[in-house]
Amino acid sequence: MLELREPKIVTELPGPKSKEMLKQRAENVPQGVSNIVPLYIKRGEGALFEDVDGNVFLDFAGGIGVLNIGYSHPEVVAAVKEQSDKFFHTSINVVLYEQYAKLAEKLNKLIPGDFKKKTMLVNSGAEAVENAIKIARKYTKRTEIITFTGAFHGRTLLTMTMTSKVKPYKWDFGPYAPGIRRMLFPYCYRCPHGLEKATCNLHCAKQFEAFFLEEVTPEDVAAIILEPIQGEGGFIIPPDEYIKALRKICDKHGILLIADEVQSSYCRTGRMFATEYWKELGVCPDIVATAKSIAGGLPISTVTGRAEVMDASHVGGIGGTYGGNPVAASAALKVIEIMERDYIAEKSLHIGKICMKRFEEMQEKYELVGDVRGRGAMVAIELVKDRGTKETAKEETNNIVQECWKNGLVVLSAGARGNVLRFLMPLVITDHQLNIGLDILENAIAKVSSDALAYNAT
Ligand SMILES: Cc1ncc(COP(=O)(O)O)c(C=O)c1O
Repeated sequence: MLELREPKIVTELPGPKSKEMLKQRAENVPQGVSNIVPLYIKRGEGALFEDVDGNVFLDFAGGIGVLNIGYSHPEVVAAVKEQSDKFFHTSINVVLYEQYAKLAEKLNKLIPGDFKKKTMLVNSGAEAVENAIKIARKYTKRTEIITFTGAFHGRTLLTMTMTSKVKPYKWDFGPYAPGIRRMLFPYCYRCPHGLEKATCNLHCAKQFEAFFLEEVTPEDVAAIILEPIQGEGGFIIPPDEYIKALRKICDKHGILLIADEVQSSYCRTGRMFATEYWKELGVCPDIVATAKSIAGGLPISTVTGRAEVMDASHVGGIGGTYGGNPVAASAALKVIEIMERDYIAEKSLHIGKICMKRFEEMQEKYELVGDVRGRGAMVAIELVKDRGTKETAKEETNNIVQECWKNGLVVLSAGARGNVLRFLMPLVITDHQLNIGLDILENAIAKVSSDALAYNAT
């Protein structure tokens, strides 16, 4: 257990041991595998980690949304050890073990939708999305998939194609997979149609009529896939009315609605799944892909959908050697048990409230803070050089990320324009730790704001 409960910097950063180890990485690991903070971790606990030089950091990145339950939750560690003592692996395709179907049963109950569901397990977010697409194509016997600007679905060939941002995700990695169509996402702060939310009359949803005439006939569309809240895209929440319109369009044309909940699930938004908010609108997706925080850091992902859709594939058509690995599945069962027992979704709402209050105060104080938004603890700040023109402040965003970690707080940027700070702190964070982190963040925003003012004055 760490003795420290707060961030503490005791060396220059990166510290001497991290610096030494970075040489090994530079020598042996391709540069394409990116890294935000050049620190080597020694151990983690809750929302904190200690690096190899004895510095302690608060982690508002949570392993990119994987650590909702925190670092090394003792009960998850115990579940992993117990399973590891028995066996690591058989491959579900060869010898059966009970955790696979147990986890599937749990997800079939929890994922929104009052219909019979089935679940398959794979290893990563991208793999879950790929399988969702394969299953949708198989079921509908159609090929075309509609995705959105700002979307991130992974880095495999198909999911990279579905992903929107060219640099760094797609650049020179083509040719891309066929059958992927893209529409404009309803990003109301920067409406791609140049309209205002109050008066737009849901123009974005009306785009489908023209799209189906000019781009692709709806009879060829297998699925529309979207993130309930865009993650890498900058935590963009589509309007409720848009979600309702999507469901109607899907129903009218026999198109499946797929929710990519890889980043928004497992209590991040104040519900176990962000699509629970859809359910409150009377909308349910036909297929849901999840990953990240499901197993507290072990690689496992899920595809859950209407039973008849999930059963469309012939035997052997879906799956893989490691899919639903028993150690990872045991961890997932324990994580979900803890989340339900310890009211982690409610904790997420609590964290979100504290953050949004502070963000709104920052918005009043600093011109740089253009938009603050979020749902539950999936919260973000969009930075602009000028609130009128909304000119993006990408460099300032990077400077804030740097300033934060040098003061003990790890944060991530996001957004197609790289000007969003997004927060994915472990939901087991204490209020005290949260407030310390928000103080470090505010100091960084203040410093970068005054640096920018000084620069503009020269
Ligand atoms: C919404 C979404 N879908 C898919 C992925 C891909 O997941 P993975 O990196 O586990 O393949 C991510 C990863 O950030 C994501 O945020």
